[in-house]
Amino acid sequence: MSSGGFLPLQGMSDIAPPEVGLWQRVESEARRVLPLYGFEEIRTPVLERTSVFTRAIGEGTDVVQKEMYTFEDRGGRQVSLRPEGTAGVIRALCGLGPEFAEARVFYIGPMFRAERPQAGRKRQFHQIGVEALGGPSPAADAECIAMQMHLVEAWGLSGASLRLHTRGVTTDQAAVREGLVNAVRPHLDALCEDCRRRHEQHPLRILDCKNPGCRAVVDTLPQAMSFMAPESRAYLDEVVRRLATLGVAAQVDPRLIRGLDYYEHTIWEITHPALGAQDALAGGGRYRIELDGRAVEGVGFAIGIERVIMALQGTGVKIEDYRGRPDLWLVAVGERAAGENLALAQQLRRKGVAVGLDTSGRSVKAQMRIANRRGAPWVVVRGDDELAAGRCQLKDMAVGAEQSVTVDELTARFVKA
Ligand code: HAM
Repeated sequence: MSSGGFLPLQGMSDIAPPEVGLWQRVESEARRVLPLYGFEEIRTPVLERTSVFTRAIGEGTDVVQKEMYTFEDRGGRQVSLRPEGTAGVIRALCGLGPEFAEARVFYIGPMFRAERPQAGRKRQFHQIGVEALGGPSPAADAECIAMQMHLVEAWGLSGASLRLHTRGVTTDQAAVREGLVNAVRPHLDALCEDCRRRHEQHPLRILDCKNPGCRAVVDTLPQAMSFMAPESRAYLDEVVRRLATLGVAAQVDPRLIRGLDYYEHTIWEITHPALGAQDALAGGGRYRIELDGRAVEGVGFAIGIERVIMALQGTGVKIEDYRGRPDLWLVAVGERAAGENLALAQQLRRKGVAVGLDTSGRSVKAQMRIANRRGAPWVVVRGDDELAAGRCQLKDMAVGAEQSVTVDELTARFVKA
């Protein structure tokens, strides 16, 4: 065995029973809710040409600079494990042709970022994401956000809050950068080393630095929005107004910046108090991505599944409640009954009943113990006498009461119409 023993790589996790039951519930709710808004699933490769990400996400972002798993494949191509879903999905949709110009798609799957692992921050994590292609429209942005809040509610996750801001249009970005660079310059000495380095290239990133010195400087700066065109502010106001009509409460937060370069206009984040320091449950925004000379516009978001699971647990959801349980457990007294039970199990399973049984010839006591451990609410016991009479003993595990029933009665009771 290698030095890692049975453990996965640092920052990566196995998702095993019983936890996987809650994951399945989270994913199946997404598969139920998102199609209500006309979204269809798309599955793209986890490995892409590196340029798919560098161009879309931005050369200067932390994700591209420090966090991508990039390597040369056997054919000498630069490839990367996807750090997020948007870039690959846009590449795929562009390749599908003009009828996908207004596509609405969702995806569920693993993403990879070589970040320093800590609570809530993984190197392989999972996202449920959506992308809706189409040009700027406050109604489309509001609909997308409202859909996301609907999904969060469908999971039973109360206490999530939505913060919203704008990146402005592409032509605002130079003015915002210049305005902030000038405003920050007199305070450089008070900034942390990272922010001093970022100042010229990425002044926006100073706005969400957690360092207390930087925060104090940020409090004195003019808001990024003050450097934007009036249309950009009007667009944000319209998104907020539409959200209000959809019953979604949003807080406009001038500190919100988002770490990906493709955004323009609306950006947002959903946080949850049960998450601790890494409190972002989800992030999204409107974007414009240039691919092979074509500009693709759309709006979307991604929700971190690990964080949804953490937040659900933090609000009292018990993983054990999501463990798959059999409807019924068959216990055999003797070899003949063991054979008959296997056939009965197969018949019932084909009719949609979850049936468990032991196939290794254990004692009746051991079979009962396993049935109990697996949480079977009902146990059927059969031996030679029961087989001869065409009956079985049906035991209610919660109260211990037993009754004799025919196989037909048993079937009628457990097979749902
Ligand atoms: P993002 O904010 O980078 O956005 O990631 C979205 C969510 O993924 C985060 O809010 C968080 O829940 C989860 N997440 C990110 N990194 C990690 C990590 N290292 N460990 C655990 N969870 C993590 C995007 O990825 C954009 N593609 C969203 C988007 C779609 N914008 C428009 N369309």
